[in-house]
Amino acid sequence: MTITPEKLIASLSWRYATKQFDSTRKIPAAMWDVIEESLVLTPSSFGLQPWKFLVIEDPGIRSNLCAESWKQPQVTEASHYIVLAARTDLNADDIDAWMSRMGEIQGGSPETRAPLKGMIEGFAQAMSHEARHGWNIRQTYIALGQLMACAAVLGIDACPMEGISAADYDKILGLEGSGYATVVGCALGYRAADDKYAAIPKARFERARMIKHV
Ligand SMILES: Cc1cc2nc3c(=O)[nH]c(=O)nc-3n(C[C@H](O)[C@H](O)[C@H](O)COP(=O)(O)O)c2cc1C
Repeated sequence: MTITPEKLIASLSWRYATKQFDSTRKIPAAMWDVIEESLVLTPSSFGLQPWKFLVIEDPGIRSNLCAESWKQPQVTEASHYIVLAARTDLNADDIDAWMSRMGEIQGGSPETRAPLKGMIEGFAQAMSHEARHGWNIRQTYIALGQLMACAAVLGIDACPMEGISAADYDKILGLEGSGYATVVGCALGYRAADDKYAAIPKARFERARMIKHV
């Protein structure tokens, strides 16, 4: 169960931050299901999954979010729009919830998981509230990366969206005081035939500048 190296690089080269989506094309439900599953399968530190992914279906909400995204048209024109939110803290309830879910799926007694639980608690307690939130935000970017890469492999276009007012997103989405806060958005769908950005050669630093074999 693998894709060829050539296909992988072709897919990653094909993807670009899509500026103009074809608003008439919708991602089929079965394909969208795979996209959601790719988010669920995202790895995270200790497996804690400190996030929520809000799939914004309501056109009115998407339009309100667009106004708080420098009016970037991707928010309303793409087939789908996701807001990735991070847990603002990591407390005993979060850790308990994860331990009990692991037990449900992997079996074993709470005692067998006690060392892991203790280690996570140690990590969490050694950090300030802000640091825990920051840690969760970093985990959430892993989900964004996985989302974009998986979309590309599936032939779905995407635009990660950091040009947003996270505080206004939180207000619009009712996240204030919920224990979750907006990190980043991602529009997904199909590029418009006339999106000139698709033809711009991909610019990256030379490999030797960023990869060192030690
Ligand atoms: C976290 C993140 C946030 C971004 N936010 C925006 C954005 O708000 N609007 C936009 O048009 N592009 C956004 N981009 C796209 C980047 O500008 C783009 O990925 C980068 O220039 C590399 O180009 P490429 O993705 O087309 O290869 C964002 C990219 C990332 C990774």
